Amino acid sequence: MRRPSTLVGVLLLVLTLISCGPWRVWSWSSSLCKQKNLEVRPHSVSITEFGAVGDGVTLNTKAFQNAIFYLNSFADKGGAKLFVPAGRWLTGSFDLISHLTLWLDKDAVILGSTNPSDWPVVDPLPSYGHGRELPGGRHKSLIYGQDLTDVVITGNNGTIDGILISNLTFLDSPFWNIHPVYCSQVTVKKVKILAPLDSPNTDGIDPDSSDNVCIEDCYISTGDDLIAIKSGWDEYGIEFGRPSTNIVINRLTGKTAVSAGIAIGSEMSGGVSEVHVQDIRFFDSYDAIRIKTSPGRGGYVRNVFVSNMTLENVNTAIRFTGLYGEHPDDKYDPNALPIIEKITIKDVIGQNIKRAGLLEGIQGDNFVNICLSNIILNVSSSYPWNCSYIQGYSDSVSPEACKPLKERIFPEHCSDCYYLSNQLQSSKNQTRAGQISGCIRS
Ligand SMILES: *[C@@H]1O[C@H](CO)[C@@H](O)[C@H](O)[C@H]1NC(C)=O
Ligand SMILES: *[C@@H]1O[C@H](CO)[C@@H](O)[C@H](O)[C@H]1NC(C)=O
Ligand SMILES: *[C@@H]1O[C@H](CO)[C@@H](O)[C@H](O)[C@H]1NC(C)=O
Ligand SMILES: *[C@@H]1O[C@H](CO)[C@@H](O)[C@H](O)[C@H]1NC(C)=O
Ligand SMILES: *[C@@H]1O[C@H](CO)[C@@H](O)[C@H](O)[C@H]1NC(C)=O
Ligand SMILES: *[C@@H]1O[C@H](CO)[C@@H](O)[C@H](O)[C@H]1NC(C)=O
Repeated sequence: MRRPSTLVGVLLLVLTLISCGPWRVWSWSSSLCKQKNLEVRPHSVSITEFGAVGDGVTLNTKAFQNAIFYLNSFADKGGAKLFVPAGRWLTGSFDLISHLTLWLDKDAVILGSTNPSDWPVVDPLPSYGHGRELPGGRHKSLIYGQDLTDVVITGNNGTIDGILISNLTFLDSPFWNIHPVYCSQVTVKKVKILAPLDSPNTDGIDPDSSDNVCIEDCYISTGDDLIAIKSGWDEYGIEFGRPSTNIVINRLTGKTAVSAGIAIGSEMSGGVSEVHVQDIRFFDSYDAIRIKTSPGRGGYVRNVFVSNMTLENVNTAIRFTGLYGEHPDDKYDPNALPIIEKITIKDVIGQNIKRAGLLEGIQGDNFVNICLSNIILNVSSSYPWNCSYIQGYSDSVSPEACKPLKERIFPEHCSDCYYLSNQLQSSKNQTRAGQISGCIRS
């Protein structure tokens, strides 16, 4: 069933968080994705106490704003919960506050207004310069937060929409669905994100200049990248200089007809590192793993580890694009070359794959220490790997990898591959983490 991909006639749901601090419901000390008990808020109010009407027609922006303004007085008293009961609660953008739980009860739907004037235009993000979806600015997200700490958005299988973000469905956002930017310690868990397969720019989850991000047990089907890890755009991102690091993605399933399951970039000018992806399944998709960058971006992508990926009916399993283009303006420095290194992909099985890899580095700026291991793909193309300006190592890869991925095996090459530390793989058998077959870690 095809639905309109424009702003008209669809639910619009999108969330951006800026400069958000730790959300204390999770423990980050030993394992990023380890859950602690949810804190109980000592105060709770229902949105109906502020005059909201859940008929899908009444605009409730003021009710949300007033309720949250009221709850702000409990921020230093353990925080408070805003309860949203069953109903269809139409609203424009509203702001969150720290120490807040936004709770959507069963059959509660936060419905984004289809009137663009209910989504105010605010300044562009500093790491993007001129703005991404709107030159000179950006639409505020439906649910928006800046400089926050200890925020939970959850509920009893409600729909948005939502930060700790869990047990929720996001439907038909007009832009990137969940966008934590300049955040630390973010968890997105058990979230379902759906948008038409032909809707532009509807990325699922975009950790952007953020660290310690855990994304687990999600199902995403959209018209763009399911997850895209970013860190700012060309000269603005380089100057802002805030990387995305320690990003863990576990148990992701999904499809995207024209984009990638997991992308890094193309905006990566603040750097992206320590990306750990495990137990992934993509089907009916274009690319599975993709790194996108360009001269002018600067920055780096390093220490990426992907393991246990199952693919069905995918055009290109692994794709690097070194000449992605797309610049904010003509002030970017063409000599600002990105560093792409230490990318390990292992334990991949795929059926009905068109191309195994289209790996294009940048002339004079090879992508190095690309390590592929135990990858078995049923590929239809007679030219399964197409590689340029890359270097690395491959082992047990079928169809056999391209020549630049056959560096002779010396210990120094092995140690140049990137492996997870045992600590980060605490839930897995540790022998899996520390070695790549034929190449024991020193
Ligand atoms: C949760 O909500 C979705 C969509 O509203 C529904 O399809 C699903 O059955 C619900 N799950 C439970 C456990 O109630
Ligand atoms: C999510 O839903 C499951 C089952 O419906 C429940 O056990 C769990 O406590 C919920 N999580 C949160 C954070 O509310
Ligand atoms: C690989 O991932 C799948 C989910 O896609 C999971 O069911 C399976 O247990 C994982 N295998 C291992 C060895 O962890
Ligand atoms: C590869 O796919 C083709 C077409 O679906 C199928 O006939 C063949 O058996 C598959 N090969 C393997 C090794 O799975
Ligand atoms: C390999 O990729 C390049 C682009 O990098 C393309 O121009 C070329 O046609 C491809 N070769 C084959 C045989 O597909
Ligand atoms: C880990 O793997 C080793 C060797 O393959 C095996 O002997 C051991 O029982 C495994 N441990 C667990 C907890 O699965």
